[in-house]
Amino acid sequence: MSVLSGKKILLGVSGGIAAYKSAILVRLLIKAGAQVKVIMTPAAKDFVTPLTLSTLSKNPVYSSFFNEEDENAEWNNHVDFALWADLMLIAPATANTLSKMVNGNCDNLLIATYLSAKCPVYFAPAMDLDMYKHPSTLAGFRSLRDFGNIIIPAEKGELASGLSGEGRMAEPENIVAFLEKDLESKLPLKGKKILVTAGPTYEAIDPVRFIGNHSTGKMGFDIAKAAANLGAEVILVSGPTHLQLKNSNVTLESVTSAQEMYDTCHRYFKEVDVAIAAAAVADYKPKNVAAQKIKKSDVSFVIELEKTKDILASLGEIKEQQFLIGFALETENEIEHAKQKIQKKNLDLIVLNSLNDKGAGFGQPTNKVTFIDKNFVITPMDLKSKEDVAADIINKILEHYA
Ligand code: CTP
Repeated sequence: MSVLSGKKILLGVSGGIAAYKSAILVRLLIKAGAQVKVIMTPAAKDFVTPLTLSTLSKNPVYSSFFNEEDENAEWNNHVDFALWADLMLIAPATANTLSKMVNGNCDNLLIATYLSAKCPVYFAPAMDLDMYKHPSTLAGFRSLRDFGNIIIPAEKGELASGLSGEGRMAEPENIVAFLEKDLESKLPLKGKKILVTAGPTYEAIDPVRFIGNHSTGKMGFDIAKAAANLGAEVILVSGPTHLQLKNSNVTLESVTSAQEMYDTCHRYFKEVDVAIAAAAVADYKPKNVAAQKIKKSDVSFVIELEKTKDILASLGEIKEQQFLIGFALETENEIEHAKQKIQKKNLDLIVLNSLNDKGAGFGQPTNKVTFIDKNFVITPMDLKSKEDVAADIINKILEHYA
């Protein structure tokens, strides 16, 4: 999934021949999952029609403060556009528009919106080669960079003038790739490695039977997805589940038993920054696993069980710099028991589920949790979707690194 997915992008189109490429640019941004609104300078309309860009962006296109077709309509408020946007992209950015951006010469809707923007602003210059090299253009680039804007450099090639050189707007594919790379590098969990356990474990009785539980794995998968979307490299160690997660930042390690989950977690733990144990690991397993399918014989049948290794506690024992998060599912004396678990397992944070809360626990799309940190600071949360609980857990990690 592209990092642009769900982003609100304000595309400013100024009047140069490269404006014809903005149609392809809008198409690519939409394809990447972004929402796009377009503002054109009046001159840009000589190169590409608002109808083309509005059809492709699935939104009205704006170019003046007033609705020219309906004088009774509300005015086009540049501040509202600016506040709506997650990022602004000015492409093509002509020499004229760039100079207005440098000087704050606010004579059209595009510049008024640019001056109101609090979001990151990217600009892709487009001009002839001598204009691109002109000292005033270069000084303008320096000023715009100093203001915090990000330049998407022009490319070399044949220019509309017939000359060949540097100045043509970066190709739409390259502009999208530039935005994705830049945004990815700034994601708050970029460079962090996170281990997540999820799902149930199955403890074999014989070759066809096992002891398991009803965990679906959803909580752990939602945590893995939320962390990956913020740039983390995630190792998701999951017991048997029907869930799937296709994300280039996630390595899925599928395991069956508690012992396999233990071994896999220990293989990765040394190299991770954060570990989150969301799996419902079986606490006991059959002491002896029958090599052949057990035949029914007597009226009753006894399986001797022995304890599995506590994965989370074992990670707590060897923890160094890692931020360690565990879950607790309690039915009584919840806070007290959770606090004991923090100490017993050497955790930094525990996510407490109480079975007394409606909508919490296995098989539910929702969860109601209380965070307790290692200093016993208690933060009760509302009943939320598991995706939102995952986001809250990730926010705790971000707070830790803030
Ligand atoms: N956990 C684990 N390995 C186990 C058992 C539990 O890693 N063998 C982890 C779970 O993933 C969860 C936390 O420990 O993060 C929850 O433990 P929980 O099952 O609630 O408590 P227990 O420590 O098993 O204690 P009890 O069942 O007595 O409440």
